[in-house]
Amino acid sequence: MSTQRPSWAPEDIDLERPNAARVYDYLLGGMANFAKDREFAQRLTDIAPDAAKMARSNRAFLRRAVTYCLDNGIRQFLDIGSGIPTAGNVHEIAQRIEPSTKVVYVDVEPVAVTHTELMLADNRNADVVRGDLSDPAAVLGAEPVSRLLDLDQPVGLLMVSVLHFLGEDADPYAAVRRYVEAVAPGSFLVVSHIAAEDTDEQARARSLYQNNAVPIVGRTREQLAEFFTGLEIVEPGIVWTPLWHPEPTDDIEVPHRSKGFVAVARKP
Ligand SMILES: C[S@@+](CC[C@H](N)C(=O)[O-])C[C@H]1O[C@@H](n2cnc3c(N)ncnc32)[C@H](O)[C@@H]1O
Repeated sequence: MSTQRPSWAPEDIDLERPNAARVYDYLLGGMANFAKDREFAQRLTDIAPDAAKMARSNRAFLRRAVTYCLDNGIRQFLDIGSGIPTAGNVHEIAQRIEPSTKVVYVDVEPVAVTHTELMLADNRNADVVRGDLSDPAAVLGAEPVSRLLDLDQPVGLLMVSVLHFLGEDADPYAAVRRYVEAVAPGSFLVVSHIAAEDTDEQARARSLYQNNAVPIVGRTREQLAEFFTGLEIVEPGIVWTPLWHPEPTDDIEVPHRSKGFVAVARKP
């Protein structure tokens, strides 16, 4: 049976296949998802019961990292793989502290882009680009980037829970290098990434993604460190998600259950 297409759903999306952005939206309690995404999320939760908690822990890291960048003088962000808007979007966190902060969101998924456009209709300091992280020339050359961001000034480069969707064939290391080269000294690179652990749960979750044409690649701390070549990784280094600058009320009892490594680094 085919899925009903709601009026807000862009024409060029396949409602018969789950999509990473919409599965994540569902795990976070959002509404911009379809039956196939919800079915997939349910199967993922059967394998990994903490899946929704992991998504929330990742969002909490994003908030802490953006706040850290703001505390260190960053007033412009390029958020690549930004996702479908949910609670605590980057421009909301940043513009609450400094209303003139500029934010450009980038995502490859049309539903994420359409919802972000709607959210930003009245915001002159933020915009969205439909683009692919693995094509830095197109992303950096996009009109909203040149209109809103001054790459001669430090930028918060956010790649949060996105690099694990790029296999080695897409050469994510070269892509990240290009973004880092394009921004000014004093910029920060913020990364969260699924950890490569060979537990049975992770292997089953990985093959679920694989079998649904959403390949996902876990990486080790050493592989992650490569993204930060030439940068100064700030304390406490590459750590499990809840251990990065935790807030007093955070639950950090079993950090590795977050299944994600995170780090923030400064371009010298
Ligand atoms: C798990 S969500 C993360 C959203 C947000 N960054 C966060 O951490 O809450 C991953 C997002 O990356 C996007 N994505 C996946 N591959 C991408 C690529 N090659 N270029 C740009 N975005 C991509 C997906 O569409 C999805 O919206």
